[in-house]
Amino acid sequence: MNMTEQAEYKEMMLKYNFAMQRLETELNILLKEYEYKNGYNPVEHVKTRMKSLDSAIKKLTDKGYEVTIDNLVRKVYDMIGVRIVCSFLSDVYDIVELIKNSKQFIIKRENNYIDFPKESGYRSYHLIILVPIHLGERTEYIEAEIQVRTVAMDFWASLDHKLRYKFPDMIPDEIRYSLFECSKDIDKLDLKMESLYEMLKHYNN
Ligand code: GTP
Ligand code: MG
Repeated sequence: MNMTEQAEYKEMMLKYNFAMQRLETELNILLKEYEYKNGYNPVEHVKTRMKSLDSAIKKLTDKGYEVTIDNLVRKVYDMIGVRIVCSFLSDVYDIVELIKNSKQFIIKRENNYIDFPKESGYRSYHLIILVPIHLGERTEYIEAEIQVRTVAMDFWASLDHKLRYKFPDMIPDEIRYSLFECSKDIDKLDLKMESLYEMLKHYNN
């Protein structure tokens, strides 16, 4: 990176850090308000991370894009990543609706990998949002990726992630197959847990 690029990168990271702080705060408010209204906290945990420059560069290179600040901003929509892990399936959909109805963000794209899982067996609900940041007179919009999933889906995804790391070229067939079978079991488990939870609510009323 030359001097100009370094300055541009610094400015970009400043904006991304503002956006991440803003996003964390707004999500916190949304979730606390939900808890207050419903007397119930649907969230097991929330994890926010900023993608490292190295991973961002790797992503651009892997996808065949030139490594420029412009491409970082335009092509790497998950520089800011938030993962919201919920107890039950219905919580996931509730949280997704909560975020979609919020006036704090603009929803750019959504991927429902729960009703339409990926070939690997991966399940999660993804939202690509735009977070407004106010700089003097201007408002800029920074992209962020929010993944909403159940604890069971999270369990599966973390093993899948480890295996992808271990076998970067191709996961051996038998492991891939077994992992896919696990994803079906996890889906069944989520549905069973959901119906138990419905029964619990019924008894509580
Ligand atoms: P990426 O370049 O990986 O971000 O994928 P994409 O641009 O095609 O978007 P996609 O919606 O497929 O994936 C976005 C993110 O979801 C990834 O960065 C991962 O965090 C997660 N993800 C997607 N597919 C899988 C999967 O098969 N296994 C796991 N563990 N995570 C996945
Ligand atoms: Mg990603």
